Amino acid sequence: MDQGPAVTTRPRRGDELELSVDSLAFGGAGVARHAGFVVFVSGAVPGDTVRAVVGKSKRAYAEARALEILSPSPDRVAPLAEHPGAPWQVIPYARQLEIKHDQVDEALRRIGRLDGYALEPIVPAVEQWRYRNKLEYSFGTDAAGELVCGFHAPGQWHEIVGLSDCLLASEPANRAREEVLAWCRAQRLTAFDRRTGTGFLRNLVVREGRRTGQLQVRLVTGPKPAGGFDADSLAAAASSASGLLWTRTDAVAETTATGRTELVAGVERLDEELGGLQLAISPQAFFQTNTEMAEQLYALAARYAELAGPERIYDLYCGIGTIGLLLAPRAAQLWGLELIEDAVADAVRNAQSNQVDNARFLAGDVRLALRDLVARAGQPDVLVVDPPRAGLSQKIVRRIIEAAPRRIVYVSCNPTTLAPNAAQLVQAGYELRRVRAVDMFPQTPHVECVAELVRPRGAQLRVRSAADEPQQTR
Ligand SMILES: C[S@@+](CC[C@H](N)C(=O)[O-])C[C@H]1O[C@@H](n2cnc3c(N)ncnc32)[C@H](O)[C@@H]1O
Repeated sequence: MDQGPAVTTRPRRGDELELSVDSLAFGGAGVARHAGFVVFVSGAVPGDTVRAVVGKSKRAYAEARALEILSPSPDRVAPLAEHPGAPWQVIPYARQLEIKHDQVDEALRRIGRLDGYALEPIVPAVEQWRYRNKLEYSFGTDAAGELVCGFHAPGQWHEIVGLSDCLLASEPANRAREEVLAWCRAQRLTAFDRRTGTGFLRNLVVREGRRTGQLQVRLVTGPKPAGGFDADSLAAAASSASGLLWTRTDAVAETTATGRTELVAGVERLDEELGGLQLAISPQAFFQTNTEMAEQLYALAARYAELAGPERIYDLYCGIGTIGLLLAPRAAQLWGLELIEDAVADAVRNAQSNQVDNARFLAGDVRLALRDLVARAGQPDVLVVDPPRAGLSQKIVRRIIEAAPRRIVYVSCNPTTLAPNAAQLVQAGYELRRVRAVDMFPQTPHVECVAELVRPRGAQLRVRSAADEPQQTR
């Protein structure tokens, strides 16, 4: 008798399931199946059997969080310390590298339907621990009612777990966090309660110049507390900081990017050295969080740019100008474009202090400003693009195709958005020549990579209209 199609039972929020994890998804969650239904499990690696609680449950898949490892994967290694920011520390480092290398390839092949490119071996990290030059901590209150400064507990938006040694930060950066926490406790300041929106202390951002030894400490709070805020005693407590800043915000979301920032003591910008450049970084400007590996990432971008000397380069999403300033001395002209005005001001200052006199940096939204840039500067020979995780919209890719650079160097922090962007460029006539992952973030699932696309000599590019483009799912 015909049994009909197999019935899959959709798990519901709050269900506890026993799951066997057989692979890893992009973003790092384990993939398991429950009665034919795909479940993405955080806190689990391939080979684990876990007890997990279901969070979101959608039509096509569910998300769950591992509560208990019932039977560990034979590949697991012992974690160095509880650290919500290092979920892959249980995977041997050599295996982490293999997974990241394969995920870049898989994204390009499966999402972008691309092939024929050279996939160069992943560049391993110089330091597997204590490599981050920036950490954003959150304040909270522990079960005993004591103020803590650490990270969100896995899967919890309001619960903060304190820590005494963050293994992703250097020892001096850890000491700076502890000094500020001790001062906050002594002042009897209260943590912001994410459920009620009350309380004062929200986040602590510690940034480090790895090559200069400078520390920038930024306390993010709600509005001024009724009892006052003794900025002078904070400056005395955080004496190791080269710059101490205070940001006040009433944002509902957990963000350190908004609000009013004032300088409490020291200097506003952080000095860093990278690839022979002396850089000054404003508190709100983007800077790659692994200085040593950023140097290798940019060296790779420079290699893929294949500069001979006469080129006009565009550096889109240029931040404080780092990539462009490294490339400009090997080319004729450099034009950088960036949204955040403070970062553009840093880029201009950094060009002057490094005697790079063929670089111009403009503030603007790439989405709106690219055509104007081409009209003003002329067509680029080489275009470097380094967008945020969401990648480029189809419209921005069309603007790049109109600009018709001979070579595109795409620096990506997300292969799943690089893939459709690269596919659109290939459909227009570019060749995806080579790709290489760089491990900027050991012990985490984050993957960074660089891709080189080239317009073959004599090739006519096809610029499609918006209506001709396949719909992107994002
Ligand atoms: C991944 S970072 C890269 C920065 C720089 N290339 C570097 O390596 O330090 C992306 C940058 O894009 C900027 N950005 C985001 N959206 C933008 C937009 N629509 N137009 C221009 N810049 C934008 C961000 O402020 C950030 O500086």
